[in-house]
Amino acid sequence: MKSEQHPITVKSTFEKDVFEGLTAYPKYLLSKYIYDKRGDALFQEIMALPEYYLTRAEYDLLDTNKRDIAALFEDPDGFDLIELGAGDGKKTKLVLSELLYRKADFTYIPIDISLNALDKLTLCLKQELPELEVQPGQGMYFDVLKRLSSYNRRKKVIMVLGSNIGNLLHPKAIEFLKKIKDSLSRNDLLFMGFDQKKEPSVILNAYNDPTGVTAAFNKNLLVRINRELDANFDIDNFKHWESYDPETGTAKSFLVAQTKMEVTIKKLDLTITFDPWETIHTEISQKYDDRTVSWLANEADLRISRIFQSPDGGYKNYVFTMK
Ligand code: AVJ
Repeated sequence: MKSEQHPITVKSTFEKDVFEGLTAYPKYLLSKYIYDKRGDALFQEIMALPEYYLTRAEYDLLDTNKRDIAALFEDPDGFDLIELGAGDGKKTKLVLSELLYRKADFTYIPIDISLNALDKLTLCLKQELPELEVQPGQGMYFDVLKRLSSYNRRKKVIMVLGSNIGNLLHPKAIEFLKKIKDSLSRNDLLFMGFDQKKEPSVILNAYNDPTGVTAAFNKNLLVRINRELDANFDIDNFKHWESYDPETGTAKSFLVAQTKMEVTIKKLDLTITFDPWETIHTEISQKYDDRTVSWLANEADLRISRIFQSPDGGYKNYVFTMK
């Protein structure tokens, strides 16, 4: 009875999402599934690329403004600093050490979907900032946010760095901001990074590096489907393609089939075909301007209370409060 294929099997969300995306026209896959162990490692490589300016811009912004930022966060009654999508914590450490230096009374609560990433971060913080109080939380943003709305012991600062919101189309971004807003009380803050519209080729190059790291990152979706869902994607027969629309500010990633292909995904009991040059849309990385961010804030019933910017204005961190 052990490993019989049965037609009525409970499918995971990953399986459902892959099925839906690859049977749709045009085809698509959700970018959140890029981040398995290999995807995490490739993203680390991306952050070190000379073309990928976002991480350095935000690092410099935080380094330059850490005193102002720490002063904004601090509260005489103490506060909780909750970071959604904490990652490796390299940028956050700038703010954390500044807060410790000021002897601020706070707990750092990093939230990430990847337990692996959280464990690594917690261990590294224990070593580098032993006096820091860390309380990691594993889970999906939205589930964690629900838990957080009942979290009202003291002031809350919610932090989302890296322009992570850029993976969401505006309607989804508004939903996300609304959910955060619902968890905020009077004195609470939301501190969030938004990559800005700029010279279009700078943006295009950031997602189209000549060494092919971004291509490998994008293709990791297919690698993962091959491994986890027993599929036979011919990875080398897909081309990574990036586009940027300077009007909407949307950078879009695709995997393009270079020839006609047939792919079988055994675990989904599914065979799909690709016409030559047919696409799979895999990711968006939205770019913003103040006007768009204030529109998003307004739609989510939030108010921008302060803007920090990198020296060339190419990257900004916004502070939001309840209206
Ligand atoms: C982690 C979503 C901010 O969109 O810039 C980097 C992911 N994709 N290179 C981004 C990414 C391709 C990144 N975010």
